[in-house]
Amino acid sequence: MDIKKRIKELTDIINKASMEYYVNDNPSITDQEYDDYYIELLNLEKKYPEYKLKNSPTNKVGGQVVDKFEKVTHKSPMLSFDDIFNEDEIESFDERIRKTSPNATYTLEPKMDGLSGSLIYEKGILIRAATRGDGIIGEDITHNVKTIKSVPLKLNKEIDIEVRGEIYMSKKSFKKCNEERKQNNEALFANPRNAAAGSVRQLDSSVAAKRGLDFMAYFIPNPDEYGIKTQSDALKFLKELGFLTNYKLNGLAKNTDEIISYIESLGEKRDDLPFEIDGVVLKVNSLEDEAKLGFTQRVPRWGIAYKFPAKEVLTKLKEIKFTVGRTGKITPNAIFDPVHVSGSVVSKATLHNEDYCLDKDVRVGDVISIRKAGDVIPEVVEVKKERRTGDEIPFKMIENCPMCGSKLVKEDANYFCKNNSCPARKIEGLIHFASRDTMNIDGLGERIIEDFYNMGFIKDISDIYRLDNHKEELMELEGFGEKSINNLLSSIENSKSNSLEKVLFALGIRHVGKKTAKVLAKRYKTIDNLIKASEEELTNVNDIGAIIAKSVKEYLSNEENLSLINELKSIGLNFEYLDTGLDDKLEGMTFVLTGTLQKYKREELTKILENKGAKVTNSVTKKTTGVIVGDKPGSKYDKALKLGINIYKEEDIENIIN
Ligand code: IVH
Repeated sequence: MDIKKRIKELTDIINKASMEYYVNDNPSITDQEYDDYYIELLNLEKKYPEYKLKNSPTNKVGGQVVDKFEKVTHKSPMLSFDDIFNEDEIESFDERIRKTSPNATYTLEPKMDGLSGSLIYEKGILIRAATRGDGIIGEDITHNVKTIKSVPLKLNKEIDIEVRGEIYMSKKSFKKCNEERKQNNEALFANPRNAAAGSVRQLDSSVAAKRGLDFMAYFIPNPDEYGIKTQSDALKFLKELGFLTNYKLNGLAKNTDEIISYIESLGEKRDDLPFEIDGVVLKVNSLEDEAKLGFTQRVPRWGIAYKFPAKEVLTKLKEIKFTVGRTGKITPNAIFDPVHVSGSVVSKATLHNEDYCLDKDVRVGDVISIRKAGDVIPEVVEVKKERRTGDEIPFKMIENCPMCGSKLVKEDANYFCKNNSCPARKIEGLIHFASRDTMNIDGLGERIIEDFYNMGFIKDISDIYRLDNHKEELMELEGFGEKSINNLLSSIENSKSNSLEKVLFALGIRHVGKKTAKVLAKRYKTIDNLIKASEEELTNVNDIGAIIAKSVKEYLSNEENLSLINELKSIGLNFEYLDTGLDDKLEGMTFVLTGTLQKYKREELTKILENKGAKVTNSVTKKTTGVIVGDKPGSKYDKALKLGINIYKEEDIENIIN
């Protein structure tokens, strides 16, 4: 075998597959194939380091990395319960139990929506963690589980024990994870369960470490070894050992009435819980009874899983509307009669791409069921084919851009409008340029950009900085007064002094998200340095892969783009990295300013806080970190007092910043 050639081949296959998986959400190979290629490459690189390529995917690792998932045979099978869905089934279950154990009581536990895991401790030290797998054989995920904050690496007792529980992602971590993925142009996880499962199946533990997973302990396979007599004592014991348990939510019931009222009350709390649950697990409390009841061929007889009715609602698909993103990617969207799902009204959900529509066989006129994936993003769950009348219109992918009419080009699973002057792409690009995480131009939101574009005030990015030439005309427009135009023009002016990473992200270079822009800005300091960097040099930068490097180089070699950059420079935009030294210190914090400050101008303080990673917003909510109060504060101050938000005075500002 030509080793050098094979290494190159594997590098390319894996990089392409990662791209398809993460960016396009369209994997072309199975996880198993991916792992096999990856392992083959790792082994070859180990043996022939001289042939290892700069863009090898194995360069991108940090933390503990395993080269494959070892198989682990469980000490006893990891079973799951039968599912039930209604009161009748609860009653039958109870009747069945009472035949063997007439006086049975039950523990009632939230059914965590994650994936089950087995943790093995020896003398109180975590030595192995495994997935359930097929119940008999799972996969070793110790390296990832060790990064989970709620997993004790050392127990409070020096015992040998196996503990089972659920590995899950909280709603908060899920939201954060998907926000980051969106920023970085990566495919979003559909729900926290998928996100958790995807995170533990990573060879590189630094990925799981960043995802904010948790572990809820709920089961000890051999409780009698520790003198435990009931499931509720087992849960208590787990808590004493140092595990996260659901002790505040778990309950006990003597009969079906108590079971049903527990289910109802947990159902009411469901939306406010920090994690996803999909039902209630009922377990016979006495372990003696449990042993008597035993197992069927497949499942334990001593417990059952009640599943909440799915939070899905039916509606009618009115239209499939195609939208054009700033990269030209065409997305079909389901437009349906507005329906209430998990706390909000929705009327639109993405249908991703042609394959997705064909797989689901969605037709305009169909009755479809909608749910909110992870309680956030609306998704079409299924098409109710049995309700078809015959008048439904089958899906057909469009051939031309719905905005400019140019012929679409198919790349992998997606179609693209390649016309750089397509108005839809232009408008999306302008919206991206002005948005909060890029140039953060207050007052230049989606609607206004669209209007200004259609009225001819802004056709290109540089026109934003020429809006002051149209001040008089703009002031004449309905909904605009002198004050709002002045505010807009001053936030446009302020945006000129943003640090390099903001404008780099704002330009909309393919594959350059917020994080990548920051890495590049920190490394190259000025746009001129970045323009000079070769593709190979870019690939050597940590966190920059071959695909990003190629895309950056392509963008910065294109004459049109270079002339845009020069124009923006001549208008006065900053293209240097402003190293605040402390930049990420305030990441994740949100401040509101109110009243007149003496030492700082409001925009100036906003910039300082933002440059350190904080957000500055206009309204006080429960999520606000603090309100900075100057003289004569307004109603925001009252609201902050009411909500118990931190109040800072002008003299506290230095402390916050530093
Ligand atoms: S006990 C023999 N307790 O739901 C089953 N499972 O069918 C032992 N789950 O696959 C598991 N919350 O992944 C148990 N409090 C809980 C649970 C729970 C979620 C999952 C588990 C299992 C399935 C039950």
